Amino acid sequence: MNKLDTALVSSALREAGFVLTDSVKDADVVVINTCSVREHAEARVLSHLGHLKHLKKHRPGMVVAVIGCMAQRLGDALLEHDAVNVVCGPGQIRQLVRLLEDALSQNVKRLVVAEAIRDRMDSSSDALEQFESSYGHQSDADGGPPGQAFVRVMRGCDNFCTYCIVPYVRGPEQCRPPERVLNQVRKLADKGVRQVTLLGQTVNAYRHRDGHRTYSLADLLGMVAEVEGIEWIRFVTSYPSEEFYDDILHAMASSPKVCHYLHMPAQSGSDRVLRAMNRHYTAEQYLELLARARRIVPDLAIAGDFIVGFPGETEDDFRATVDLVRQARYRNCFVFKYSPRPGTTADKRHQDSVPDEVKQRRNVELLAVQEAISEQLSSEFLGRTVTVLVEGLSKKARVNPLDSQSHPQLVGRTATDSIVVFNGSPSLAGRFVDVRITATSPLTLFGDLVVG
Ligand code: 5AD
Ligand code: SF4
Repeated sequence: MNKLDTALVSSALREAGFVLTDSVKDADVVVINTCSVREHAEARVLSHLGHLKHLKKHRPGMVVAVIGCMAQRLGDALLEHDAVNVVCGPGQIRQLVRLLEDALSQNVKRLVVAEAIRDRMDSSSDALEQFESSYGHQSDADGGPPGQAFVRVMRGCDNFCTYCIVPYVRGPEQCRPPERVLNQVRKLADKGVRQVTLLGQTVNAYRHRDGHRTYSLADLLGMVAEVEGIEWIRFVTSYPSEEFYDDILHAMASSPKVCHYLHMPAQSGSDRVLRAMNRHYTAEQYLELLARARRIVPDLAIAGDFIVGFPGETEDDFRATVDLVRQARYRNCFVFKYSPRPGTTADKRHQDSVPDEVKQRRNVELLAVQEAISEQLSSEFLGRTVTVLVEGLSKKARVNPLDSQSHPQLVGRTATDSIVVFNGSPSLAGRFVDVRITATSPLTLFGDLVVG
């Protein structure tokens, strides 16, 4: 969601005449897009702001804007920071250009966030929709990989998992009409985009009523798959509800364009903790859902999220999580240490009772369990040829440019979201290529470009 917001804001700024610089030292304007999901992300923003405050001593005219969920959450308090000129919530980004121009010309401080977010977001959604439709088709101009774009299909969330700040900073759930989504996808395809990722906090629950017809995510996938030029379609993030909607899995199985990939966080393997988190499923139901999904889409790659150290999480609870990870056989897992978020139910009801050392140990252990599984799943690719959408130079190639004779190292992803590293011409970025896998590590496949 944040990457998409950054892309939208970059496009709007570029259209208003702003130009991207490589270094903050050359910038007249600095925009920091922020995340509130964990305290660590917010701490990093505050440390950036400390650095900018220092820079501004020599560059008093520099304008600094903080946008995104942290702007929405902290509002006034952020505006009081010496480095900050503009604070703008995620529902107000369409106003950012004007706010920056005001700050540049009049050296004023400006704050625009939704007041009562559950109400105000509704009334501002038309304008937000307009902003999104105007800039949502400028794909990689913000420096993201070429040939790929995110398309929002849902805003906000109504789920209120007890640990989560998202419903408070992104507002209530709203589904965008399929026509709007499709228009955007068509424009993206015209600009050379080959992969779209449909975004929603609970994207599998997408529903839009139009007269007496109701559109589901499966319908939307079918419609997007008709768009010429689009080759791969992904969607994130799925909520493991009882009625996962098998039609989505059938769309995946039957359409060559819908990638066989699901990001479906479990968060915990303990039913007691899941209940305290207000997640509406048990570990058994979750695993049954994975089994059903794999019956319909046998080569499905599944990724999960987990929170370790939720208030009151015992060693037994954690063991249940380890068990679930062993059984789920994820391709990849993201593990987070519980971080209390002010205003959430978990924070109001419970002490952050699990000590950080314990969270850290559980985090490391869970990742190790997953790493062994990832390693095994990766090794199954050895000797196989996979199709890869090329993203560009690998990180290693960037810091260590090779001599002009040989091709540099490129990175891309398979339809099932495996990372693939191989040598090739940088001009392949944004294109599909075949790569024969010659070596594997838990999270990366290495191979040679298949030519011809
Ligand atoms: N503390 C730690 N992790 C969190 N997540 C969401 N809220 C919190 C929190 N308060 C994790 C969840 C979610 C991912 C995006 O971030 O695992 O799926
Ligand atoms: Fe947060 Fe739960 Fe909504 Fe995901 S489904 S955004 S974890 S409240």
